[in-house]
Amino acid sequence: MSKIAIVPAPSRVVPGNGAFVLTPETVLVAVGPAAEVAAMFAEQIAPATGFTLPVVAVPQDGRPVIAFVLDEAAAGLGAEGYGLTVTPSHVTARAAQSAGLFYAAQSLRQLLPPEVFRSTPVEGIAWTMPAVEIEDVPRFRWRGAMLDVCRHFMPKAFVLRYIDLLALHKLNVFHWHLTDDQGWRIEIKKYPRLTEVGAWRKETLVGRMQRDAEMTFDGVPHGGFYTQDEIREVVAYAQARHVTVVPEIEMPGHAQAAIAAYPELGNLTEPVDVRTCWGISENVFNVEESTIAFLQDVLDEVLELFPSEFIHVGGDEAPKKQWRESPAAQARMQALGLHDEEELQSYFIRRMDAYLTAKGRRLLGWDEILEGGLAENATVMSWRGVRGGVAAVSAGHDVVMAPNSHTYFDYYQSADRDSEPLAIGGFLPLEGAYAFDPVCEGIDAEHAHHVLGGQGQIWTEYIATPEHVEYMAFPRLCALAEAVWTPAEGRDYADFLARLAVHLRRLDGLNVHYHPLE
Ligand code: ACM
Repeated sequence: MSKIAIVPAPSRVVPGNGAFVLTPETVLVAVGPAAEVAAMFAEQIAPATGFTLPVVAVPQDGRPVIAFVLDEAAAGLGAEGYGLTVTPSHVTARAAQSAGLFYAAQSLRQLLPPEVFRSTPVEGIAWTMPAVEIEDVPRFRWRGAMLDVCRHFMPKAFVLRYIDLLALHKLNVFHWHLTDDQGWRIEIKKYPRLTEVGAWRKETLVGRMQRDAEMTFDGVPHGGFYTQDEIREVVAYAQARHVTVVPEIEMPGHAQAAIAAYPELGNLTEPVDVRTCWGISENVFNVEESTIAFLQDVLDEVLELFPSEFIHVGGDEAPKKQWRESPAAQARMQALGLHDEEELQSYFIRRMDAYLTAKGRRLLGWDEILEGGLAENATVMSWRGVRGGVAAVSAGHDVVMAPNSHTYFDYYQSADRDSEPLAIGGFLPLEGAYAFDPVCEGIDAEHAHHVLGGQGQIWTEYIATPEHVEYMAFPRLCALAEAVWTPAEGRDYADFLARLAVHLRRLDGLNVHYHPLE
């Protein structure tokens, strides 16, 4: 019989006696929105088991039942919590809302033998679930993963697969980094050159970016973008898995691809190319009214596509050199009565904050948006460690923790770098990812509610393929999932490793190209 090895660990697990045996006779009992969750569960376990389990409204003469119940009585478990009872005679999943029931289904999949995750029929397996009583509530509401599709474009099929993998780990935010210096990846109808020009670079740097070193390029054009129809498909797919897609449109920095498409958005007289190497570009948007209007037009189309409450506007790594040297930027600063370029950036972000707030959305930005003064309604994503997050929380703002110390999965994961593919640098082993606590030192109990949660990042300068994304993401994303789901007192690295040994067989079933344990 399979051990109970759910990742992320549930809040409360009480093992029982015996097991429920899933057979072709089993029926899934559910009505209304619960039936959708049951149908997806049936669909997910069908390939490996070969069973086509019917979803029915009422139990059928003596056939064993897995019941999916939406029940107001479970409201105490919150919007995403659930209860699960497995006995030898029946299984009941209950939750107050669909999201909770969906997470119950993810746990049910993990109670079955790991072979259930395979995509072809597996013979000779007893499809048992150990008897157990589970009550499970997530610790944080923001349980995210960021994927950079700009440095290397990732096909839509992989984006969908990645969302499936997030959902399996009870992660609920897919932060889609859609624009950067090296590529603009979202179709904007009003400004077609953003993708006609901005989605393509003529070549890519070979090897690691090193300051002042001679650069070699591969001579191979690279690019791609998502049409608005494709984006709608991704958003709907995610929604069905209770994942919110948070788009990121970078400003005022990381803007070179957009400026290559529309030079009037920049600060220079000569045109620029879509960037072909990594590092921080000096090409940032100018702060003219026309540029602010352009970006607000872009945001209008973004808001149409993404129902997410939060819209990420980047804000990180915007060098001020061009603003310092531009007579127009200096005149603008003077006219606005601003003291320095940091305040000019702050002004820029405040304009976006006001715009998004008026549309009923919330602005999110990397922690540089604190510099020059934080916009009134802004939420901060803390990446340069936790300092920015602590400062924002103390000022009464919400934060999402994404510190590079614990959540940058583009860092090396093995101390033996030579055994690893080229990475951006850093060192973040699995244990380090597991040690992540979004409510870090410096945030007291009184302010802890401002910490919405945390997320893991995959920046793709040195990650060119979906397989390589998986190699960097897993199993560190499993550790992250536990950091943002499991109650702090329920976390234990040794116990996680024991469960992970089983969990990796699930990932094997799904053909996830994870980094092997060391
Ligand atoms: C970042 O890593 N520049 C957010």
